Amino acid sequence: MSPRRYAQIVGWGKALPARSMHNREFESLVDTSDEWIRTRTGIVERRVAGEGETTTSLAIAAARQAIAVADIDPRRIDLILVATCTADRLLPGAAPIVQQALGATSSGAVDMNAACAGFMYALVTANGLIASGTHRRILVVGADTLTRWMDWKDRRVSILFGDGAGAVLLEASDLPTGLFASVLRADGSGADLLHVPAGGTACLPTNDTLARGAHYIQMDGPAVFRFAVQIIVDSTREVLDAAHLTVEDVDLFVPHQANRRIIDAAVRTLELPSDRVFINLDRYGNTSAASIPIALTEAIEGGRLHPGDNILMSGFGAGLTWGTALFQWGVPQRVPATMPWQTVVHQGLTERAARALSVARRALAIADRA
Ligand code: COA
Repeated sequence: MSPRRYAQIVGWGKALPARSMHNREFESLVDTSDEWIRTRTGIVERRVAGEGETTTSLAIAAARQAIAVADIDPRRIDLILVATCTADRLLPGAAPIVQQALGATSSGAVDMNAACAGFMYALVTANGLIASGTHRRILVVGADTLTRWMDWKDRRVSILFGDGAGAVLLEASDLPTGLFASVLRADGSGADLLHVPAGGTACLPTNDTLARGAHYIQMDGPAVFRFAVQIIVDSTREVLDAAHLTVEDVDLFVPHQANRRIIDAAVRTLELPSDRVFINLDRYGNTSAASIPIALTEAIEGGRLHPGDNILMSGFGAGLTWGTALFQWGVPQRVPATMPWQTVVHQGLTERAARALSVARRALAIADRA
């Protein structure tokens, strides 16, 4: 049998701006109410980047936490992928800024822009690079500050978004857990459903574009809503089929945190029990590419993940783009810095060991056939 490399998440972290903005603050800006926002979206408050807080400052803070949890020297990181659509500048990307700040001197660094689905694209890409044997340690960051592109007077958009960053560190391992199945898709026919019309090379920023507010996010909310519910359901079914699993095998669903009603509708159709769905959008709103790694970090820190658990993640966003993946958790929630984490993984496999091993065997069988 050929040597196998599985990508384990061995570090995680998140960073959020200091300023919290409650729904009530919108009541003095636009014709809306705390009640409307809560019932239509599930959001109660969000974090908004202030002076000195940028996409890269948040990304760096989240990445530092992930590196500390993994307890590795940043010089041992091979690649940094920053999923973002709001890099600090048009050039260069955010990733080299993050790389330099971390002292990851042996690492490549590149941005991936799939808007709110960016983290899923970066995670699946990182997994593939580790599986191929070309990379051993990849830092995947999701970071966005979409409030910087927001017209605070547009009540259909401004109430939805918040800023933040989340990061995971992936490391190659022989332990047969990690990402078992994934779907990455796009449908560019929906490009105008969620976009920023001006400021790119097709429509340079001018006094006129500024006056028209063409540098702000424009969105057809109901169309994006319908798209999101559909793709979560369809791509989840596809991923579960590919992994030879069913909805009952999902221990935790970590969806992109866009709208509570989107998540509820998808989960109802999938018949996934609501206590297996991780939600934190009430506190942060939609943080774009950061939402899944922030939620994942909070799920880990809250003790929701155990070795052998099957974690379903699904992200969607502008493009249109989407990505869904099934990840089997291999690392216990607290890794003592003094103990090699592989040892802890083996010791941590307790009552779930039988199921974890059966899923691992299935994964090996699938890989053999491929
Ligand atoms: N406060 C009060 N009223 C609002 C409002 C607000 N913040 N935003 C919209 N409305 C009004 C609309 O103007 C409309 O009024 P009208 O009937 O008089 O025209 C009414 O509420 C219903 O609007 P609609 O857009 O149909 O509401 P909705 O139930 O679809 O909710 C969204 C709007 C934006 C919350 C919802 O469509 C959504 O979340 N879509 C997905 C967006 C998303 O997730 N984007 C990011 C993807 S990564």
